[in-house]
Amino acid sequence: MTALPAARPIGVFDSGIGGLSVLQALRRELPHEDFIYLADSGNAPYGDEKGDAFVQQRTLAIARWLCAQHGIKALVVACNTATAAAVELLRSTLPELPAIGVEPALKPAAACSQTHHVGVLATRGTVGSARFQRLLAAHSAHTRFAVQACDGLARAIEQSTEEPLPAPESAAKIGALCAQYAGALGSFGLKTGDIDTLVLGCTHYVFAKDMLRELVGPEVQILDTGAAVARQTRRILAQAGTLAPEQSADGQPAETGQVRLYTTGQLAALQAAAERWLDLPARCCTALPRT
Ligand code: DGL
Repeated sequence: MTALPAARPIGVFDSGIGGLSVLQALRRELPHEDFIYLADSGNAPYGDEKGDAFVQQRTLAIARWLCAQHGIKALVVACNTATAAAVELLRSTLPELPAIGVEPALKPAAACSQTHHVGVLATRGTVGSARFQRLLAAHSAHTRFAVQACDGLARAIEQSTEEPLPAPESAAKIGALCAQYAGALGSFGLKTGDIDTLVLGCTHYVFAKDMLRELVGPEVQILDTGAAVARQTRRILAQAGTLAPEQSADGQPAETGQVRLYTTGQLAALQAAAERWLDLPARCCTALPRT
């Protein structure tokens, strides 16, 4: 028998483990929902040089797999690069599937920056996209944005959970790339002309936030989109009438939802990431054949 819509899981995917930062926020906002997460780590990174056609083809293939194998009721594209390249195509190709994308937090950054100078770190794919350029144009009236494409940073974060387990060199590599790219944006602080707000425009970079915080100092606001995307997902499900109930039929609080994670890359890497960032046991994770 087909499960009732509200009982079906929410699909979440990213080029790799970066979208786990969005899944953290989704689980906080929607604790009674079941989630199926797909890390396309076998094909990561999407954003350095893969190009739109490849990212579109992967996005559609993953969406179809999540629908066919898991009957998802909505899909969160937890990847700025895939959202920029493919969310419109996804919506027109699978119109029945509510799709929630992520985009760099330029609007909230423009609203909260006091120096009117904002730094943005994202992948080359995101910053070169027409969607990002439209977003930038829409919020540049009173704010100057310094934008930096961060080749290699998402890959270095992916590699930090791959076997052999995180070596000090891997942290050093992430640190060096963060220093290079944050340094290229300009000077950070609260003085006139300083960048006082930093937008993390790639879901992987959330896992380098502590290193970036060290580099930009304590006063700078660092924005990511996980919580906003989670609230938007709640709104979309509420409109569709497919939110999982918060109480069971006898009025007791509903159980916490289940999470299953799949990877097209290395199983041990996903297990390490799921344990480190979501406190989930290794048995929640499954490897898929690389496609
Ligand atoms: N995590 C992805 C994003 O938010 C992409 C990283 C990559 O694969 O390049 O843009």
